[in-house]
Amino acid sequence: MPRIEVDKYLCVGCERCVLSCPNRLFHVEGAKNIPEPIPDAGEKCISCYHCVAICPVRGISVGNVSGRQCEPIPTDAVPRFEHIATLLRSRRSIRRFSAKPLDERTLEQMLDVVRWAPTARNLLPVKWVVVNGRDKMRELGSLTAEWMRTVEGGLGLAQAWDDGVDHLLRGAPCLAVAYTEEDALWPEVDCTIAVETLDLSAAAMRIGACWAGYFIQAARHSQPINRWLGLSETQTVQAALMLGYTDIEIYGHIPVRPELDVRYIRGTAKNSQSEPRP
Ligand SMILES: Cc1cc2nc3c(=O)[nH]c(=O)nc-3n(C[C@H](O)[C@H](O)[C@H](O)COP(=O)(O)O)c2cc1C
Repeated sequence: MPRIEVDKYLCVGCERCVLSCPNRLFHVEGAKNIPEPIPDAGEKCISCYHCVAICPVRGISVGNVSGRQCEPIPTDAVPRFEHIATLLRSRRSIRRFSAKPLDERTLEQMLDVVRWAPTARNLLPVKWVVVNGRDKMRELGSLTAEWMRTVEGGLGLAQAWDDGVDHLLRGAPCLAVAYTEEDALWPEVDCTIAVETLDLSAAAMRIGACWAGYFIQAARHSQPINRWLGLSETQTVQAALMLGYTDIEIYGHIPVRPELDVRYIRGTAKNSQSEPRP
C-alpha cells in the first residue's frame, strides 16, 4: 500500500492532482488550497502515478516514486495526427522474413514502450517470453504443427509444415509471446493491447511483424508448447507476435478498406456543461 504525500512547500494549489486521479484520492480542505490525500488513499491507489506526473512542481510522491523520476514530455517531439495516421494506415502484417535473429537491443527498445500500454485497473499483468533465432522457432513451429494435427481443420496446416511451407509462424526468426497468470482480471484484452502496441512499435522501427493467431490457438491448449516456453500450470498464453527483418518498402501503397460501420448518438451542444470537478 503506497504512502501518498503532497509537498506543501512546493504545492502551487493548481489542483491538477485532484482532477487527474481516477479514484478521486485527493481533496482540498476549506481555504487551505493544498490538496491532501483522503484517509484511505493508499489502499485505493492503483499506482498509475498520474498525480506524480501531472504535478507541475514535482511535489507529489507515491510510495518511493516521486516527480523527480518522471521524464518531461518533449512536446515538440509528439508526432502530429497526420504522422500517426500514416503509421496506423501503413502498418501491414508481414509474412516474409529474413532468417537473421532480431537484434536484442532493438527488441528491448520496442518492448520497453509497451510498459506504457493501458491495462485494466493498472494491474500490469502482462509477462513476455521472447523466442529469438530460427532454430528455436522451428522447434516451436513443430510443436504447433503437432497440435494442429489433433484438431479439426488443422491437418492441412500440419501437412504444409511437413512439406516445408510454414503458415504457422511464417518462417519468422522471432516470436514475442504475451502471457498472464490465469487469475488476471482482464488477461486477453490487456495482452492484446500490449501486443498491438509492440506491433506498432515494430512498424515505426521498420521491423516486420504479424499476429501469430495459429500459434496462439495452439499455445492455449498444448501442454508441450507451454512446457517448451517454460510456463507454469497457472500461466496462459494470450497473444503473440511474429517479428523479423523484412523488405517492407515493397508496400508502396495503402490497401483499400471499406467504410467504417459507425453510428453516432448525438446530444445537443446547448446541454453541454463545463468540465465537472471531482
Ligand atoms: C488476432 C489475429 C490473429 C492473426 N493471426 C494470423 C496468423 O496466424 N497468420 C497470419 O499470417 N496472419 C495473421 N493475422 C493477420 C491478419 O490476417 C491481418 O491483420 C489481416 O489480414 C489484415 O492485414 P493487415 O494487418 O496487413 O492490415 C492475424 C491478425 C489478428 C488480429
